[in-house]
Amino acid sequence: MQRQENTSLDDLGQNVRRAFAECCDGNPDVLAYAPGRVNLIGEHTDYNDGFVLPMAIGCGTMVAGRARADGQIKVFAVDLDMSRSSFATDQPILPDAQQPWSNYVRGVAAALQEDGLTLSGADLVIAGNVPKGAGLSSSASLEIATGLVLAALAGQPDYDRTALALAGQRAENEFAGCHCGIMDQLVSARARSGKAMLLDCRSLDVVHADMPKGLAIMIVHSGIDRGLVDGEYNIRRIQCYAAAQHYGVAALRDLDVAGLEAGKHGLDPIAYLRARHVVSENERTILAADALQNADLAELGKLMADSHISMRDDFAITTPEIDRLVTLLQAAIGKNGGARMTGGG
Ligand code: GLA
Repeated sequence: MQRQENTSLDDLGQNVRRAFAECCDGNPDVLAYAPGRVNLIGEHTDYNDGFVLPMAIGCGTMVAGRARADGQIKVFAVDLDMSRSSFATDQPILPDAQQPWSNYVRGVAAALQEDGLTLSGADLVIAGNVPKGAGLSSSASLEIATGLVLAALAGQPDYDRTALALAGQRAENEFAGCHCGIMDQLVSARARSGKAMLLDCRSLDVVHADMPKGLAIMIVHSGIDRGLVDGEYNIRRIQCYAAAQHYGVAALRDLDVAGLEAGKHGLDPIAYLRARHVVSENERTILAADALQNADLAELGKLMADSHISMRDDFAITTPEIDRLVTLLQAAIGKNGGARMTGGG
């Protein structure tokens, strides 16, 4: 497992350097890598100020960069047949509808500038190996790797990683049109190898959790394209906010299951179901972090199974094919672990 990870990282590095030499003549000044992620549990809790328990995976995005004196940022995408896009750092940075892939880069540059970083011009070359559209956060890994390179070229190689994650989230919200939470960017920016990360999405405090010895994390692709398009995601967000307003709380994180039941009168039935998922999922996530700590895989498996049922019945983000696959995996794993759908849906 470890060896495979290193090999693919080496390959990416070589790829990106070779491409840099071809399209920009010479070598990059900076190389940065950021991983994709898988979420063990805590789905759609992040934008409700709740807890999530993701970890980095062995695939990610590598960005090579070199400063330019003319203030232009020129970007080349190795995986898109060397598509290119460019923009100026001394003009307002705007999204480009013709080249949506470049909006992650543009959005991060704009956010870092807004945060007070004086960006230098740059040649950037990007290559990645996170499967796209598979719910493994290829876009967050692109945002974070881009941010690391831009910050380093601006003379701040130790730029705060939480600030970088927030800039990536703004890129996603304002330039890519997905009103995602902070989980993907924060785990990509701050995860430690081989550890899960319990993240409090209100305080942004992180606890790096050891994994039980011998535990394997398997990511199984259903073969079905990602179903929850950004529009559906954004609708779930609105429903959650409506529920929080009904209960008079800042976010659903501030409710427990008893409070949810006691105050449900007058709440739209769909909003109630969405809220029930978030409130129960939040509780499961904290329990799952304990179960992981205690190497209690049977308990972890039960929490994962309940999480899947809640995503299926209350949050309505699974499909019959995925439900079936999860049932098969759960039967195969038994009490030695668990299975659930992961990601936005
Ligand atoms: C997507 C979003 C995250 C999170 C998950 C669901 O991955 O980018 O912020 O909301 O969905 O848990």
